Amino acid sequence: MNRKTLIALKTLTWIACLSPFALLVYEAVTNTLGPDPTSTITLTTGYNALLMLILSLGITPLRLLSPRLSWLIRFRRLLGLFAFFYASLHLATYIALYMNFDLGVFKTDITKRRFIIAGFLAYSLLVPLAATSTTWAIRKLGGKRWNRLHKLVYFAAICGIIHYWWQVKPGVLSPMRLTIALFVLLAARPVLLLIQKRRARRAVAA
Ligand code: HEM
Repeated sequence: MNRKTLIALKTLTWIACLSPFALLVYEAVTNTLGPDPTSTITLTTGYNALLMLILSLGITPLRLLSPRLSWLIRFRRLLGLFAFFYASLHLATYIALYMNFDLGVFKTDITKRRFIIAGFLAYSLLVPLAATSTTWAIRKLGGKRWNRLHKLVYFAAICGIIHYWWQVKPGVLSPMRLTIALFVLLAARPVLLLIQKRRARRAVAA
C-alpha cells in the first residue's frame, strides 16, 4: 500500500465516520430532527457507536485472512476511537436531555432498567480502551499487557448488543444485522488464529 493511497483511504474513513455527526448537526440547525429530537440523537449516536465498534473488530480477522491486508491495522484505532466518540455523545445526550442532569433519574435507571445497566457496562469497558489507545500507553503497558487489556473490546461489543436488544420493543429485529456480524467475527477469530499458526509452522518447517 503506497503512502498516497493510504492517505486517501484515511481521509475517506474520516469523512464516513464523521458524516452521521455532521448530519445530526445539520438536522439540529435546520430543525429537522423529527418529532422526538432527543430520541433521534440518542438512537443515531448509539447505533453508530456500536457499528464502528464492530467494524473495528473486523480488522483483525481480515488481517489474519491474508498477510497482504496487514495495512488495515492503521484503521483499527481510528474506528475504535470513533466508536468511543459516538458512545460519549450518546451518554452525554442521555445525561443532558433524558436525565436533565438529575442524578436521581440515573440512580433509578441504573437499578431498574436492565438495558441501561448493559449500556453503562459497555461504556465502562470502552473507557480504559480509549484511554490506552496512544502509542505512549502501548509502550508503557508493554505489548502483552496492552493486548490482554484490549480483549475487553469483545465484551464491550457483546454488552452493546445486549443493550440494543433490551432497548427495542419485543418482536423488533433491527439489532439482528449487527448481532450476526459480531457472531461471525467472534466465531471466525479462533479458526483464523489456527490457520495462521499452521501457516507459521509450515514456514518454519520449510
Ligand atoms: C451509560 C451508558 C449508556 C446509556 C445511559 C444509554 C442509553 C440509551 C438509551 C436511553 C437508548 C434509547 C433511546 C431511545 O429509545 O430514544 C439507547 C439506545 C441505544 N444505545 Fe445506548 N446507552 C449507553 C451506552 C451505549 C453504548 C456504549 C453503546 C454502543 C457500544 C450503545 C448503543 C445503543 C444502541 C445501538 C441503541 C439503539 C439504537 C437504535 O435503535 O437504532 N449505548 N441507549
